[in-house]
Amino acid sequence: MNTEIAVLTEDNIDKKVIKRAGDILRAGGLVAFPTETVYGLGGDALNPESSKKIYAAKGRPSDNPLIVHITNMEALEKIVTEIPEGARILSQRFWPGPLTMIFKKNDIVPRETTGGLDTVAVRMPSNKIAAAMIDAAGGYVAAPSANLSGRPSPTVAKYVIEDMNGRIDMIIDGGDSDVGLESTIVDFTAGEPMILRPGYITKEMLEEALSTAVSVDKAIIDSNSKVAPKAPGMKYRHYAPKGELTIVEGSSEAVTEAVNGYVSEASLAGFRTGVIATEETKSLYRADSVKSVGHAGREDEVAHHLFRILREFDDEGIEKIFSESFADSGLGAAVMNRLLKAAGHKVIKL
Ligand code: TXA
Ligand code: MG
Repeated sequence: MNTEIAVLTEDNIDKKVIKRAGDILRAGGLVAFPTETVYGLGGDALNPESSKKIYAAKGRPSDNPLIVHITNMEALEKIVTEIPEGARILSQRFWPGPLTMIFKKNDIVPRETTGGLDTVAVRMPSNKIAAAMIDAAGGYVAAPSANLSGRPSPTVAKYVIEDMNGRIDMIIDGGDSDVGLESTIVDFTAGEPMILRPGYITKEMLEEALSTAVSVDKAIIDSNSKVAPKAPGMKYRHYAPKGELTIVEGSSEAVTEAVNGYVSEASLAGFRTGVIATEETKSLYRADSVKSVGHAGREDEVAHHLFRILREFDDEGIEKIFSESFADSGLGAAVMNRLLKAAGHKVIKL
């Protein structure tokens, strides 16, 4: 398949490109597009054939449901059986933006889109290219992250092209993703709100908006939990670079010293080595590739850079990667969730 590639910027959106993308989606084709979180791989959410194509293009298990992207509340009302009060409050506060909510679906949404579930995940993205494209497509775009299943989500078009060129109809390059991690997912279908995937909208922000406690799916907090996560996608190994990633936890000095030791051992054994460090610590490491994810304590910077850095290690053929650990409160909870998954939960505690 020949994949059309178009470059757009949010403040100067070429209407012809948007119309072309909308036409492709209405005809059942697939278009990858930028959002404020990560790039999405879009298809018409109300067309079961489009959803099947998405699973095929990603190589994704079809029991892993897709998020339906919309641009207004009327669109939401048409596809769910009810909108709980809490969801209404969060929609007013955080939509458009990096928040996904789970609702009970009605018959308009095909089960192919929801991985066979009676519930549907819905998000209203703030990226203007995404919004224009969703409207041009008829209002409902199902989109997982635009990576091959298991690989880190793409935050720049280069990596969408690497994974999807030749597999889908069109890729819209809209530059760098603002947030860099996928949306926060909140479930309202079991009564009390529960976070199924941490993201840029933190637990604290949700609790403040709702004036009530918000729980977090146990399967996410406890890596040893035998309970299946409530978001089916969270059970898969994810975000993984090709190299073997290990997180090293401890005081800053101890981590630097230990990581340099692990790096020397790995180098002696013939492996190409990488380190994930911060602006403050990057000069302290000796490895084939040392990358800074941002300033220490700035979890927003870490979120923004993490997935791109994991991909860059792949580009450089790095085989053993060691990462510093980050605080896991606030946005750090989302950062550590992704980093731990990328590492297959391999952590050395000093
Ligand atoms: O930021 C994002 O959410 C990005 C952009 C493109 O919008 N999308 C994204 O989609 O991350 P994906 O498919 O990579 O992740 C969707 C997650 C999966 O873990 C899936 O299992 C969960 O959402 N999910 C979807 N529908 C669900 C449902 N009805 N109930 C529980 N979890 C659901
Ligand atoms: Mg994904």
